[in-house]
Amino acid sequence: MTTPLVDPHGRVVRDLRISVTDRCNFRCTYCMPEEGMTWLPRSEVLTFEEIERVARICVERYGFGSIRLTGGEPTVRAHLPLLVEKLAGLGVDLAMTTNGATLRLLAADLRRAGLNRVNISLDSLRAERFEALTRRNALADVLDGIDAAVEAGFSPVKVNCVLIRGVNDDEAIAFAEFGRRRGVVIRFIEFMPLDADGAWSAASVVPAAEVVSTIDAVYPLEPVASGSAPAERWRYRDGGGEIGVISSVTNSFCGTCDRVRLTAEGQFRNCLFAVRETDLRAVLRGGGSDDDVAAAVEAEVGRKWAGHSIGQVTFVRPDRSMSQIGG
Ligand code: 5AD
Ligand code: SF4
Repeated sequence: MTTPLVDPHGRVVRDLRISVTDRCNFRCTYCMPEEGMTWLPRSEVLTFEEIERVARICVERYGFGSIRLTGGEPTVRAHLPLLVEKLAGLGVDLAMTTNGATLRLLAADLRRAGLNRVNISLDSLRAERFEALTRRNALADVLDGIDAAVEAGFSPVKVNCVLIRGVNDDEAIAFAEFGRRRGVVIRFIEFMPLDADGAWSAASVVPAAEVVSTIDAVYPLEPVASGSAPAERWRYRDGGGEIGVISSVTNSFCGTCDRVRLTAEGQFRNCLFAVRETDLRAVLRGGGSDDDVAAAVEAEVGRKWAGHSIGQVTFVRPDRSMSQIGG
């Protein structure tokens, strides 16, 4: 029997995001500084057995229905398919967010190991701009990685695109055309204040509504009825597929949030923007029982707030960037 895990605002928690590493083979400007990232020593990163244990407790006790692997860049973690195989055994919807650069090598293995879905992050289709944004000359690898994901049978393959005003906001149509051509779903995510160097400002956010109207003017769209927050789905009226927009800033979906997060070093977070965390690794390595782990999880969920307050004066940015928290 599972007992739903309900937070103080009546939301049922059933989605676990697991960061499997803080490392990355890119240095996206909105995520990491160019140099000087210090990585966690290996001994501080949770082992596959530890990750599986936390996941199992969440699934078996509380009926969690989905798990997403993130990073840093999850594919730089050695032997990732082994972890996927362990987690696939829990019978949940298992997904991964990746920068796609090494998917050509890994997609088929991950699929065979039981990964259900993959989201690939891509913020520019222009090689020079891609390099300026990620500080890596890897656009061709990512495009090839997207093809590899499609060929491996992931369906649908989703591509996450963060548009930033004055940086890449002129590419909405190019992304729409790319999605239609390759048969992938482009998901436009509003830029959130989690970047490592503090470049975020309200003016740098391209509102989701603007992206929809820009694309609709060229390729008419109609809404797809779906309860699947946080993405709002739109389909091309000509049958050319669909897009998603995630208005994390202009229209926060905190009200229906069902997520919690586990960082690479075993800190348990009740929100992407949380300013505190629970040290689950200490419980795991201190000889804690499953009941002890569950109690720590429940206590942190019991502190979950109603929502972030981006755009309000009360907003306090987390002191860690996206790569350290897990996207
Ligand atoms: N705002 C919005 N999205 C972000 N991502 C990384 N940093 C930010 C940010 N500051 C996205 C990546 C990836 C996912 C893990 O999160 O592009 O798609
Ligand atoms: Fe790496 Fe993703 Fe951060 Fe880019 S956004 S540096 S790909 S973790």
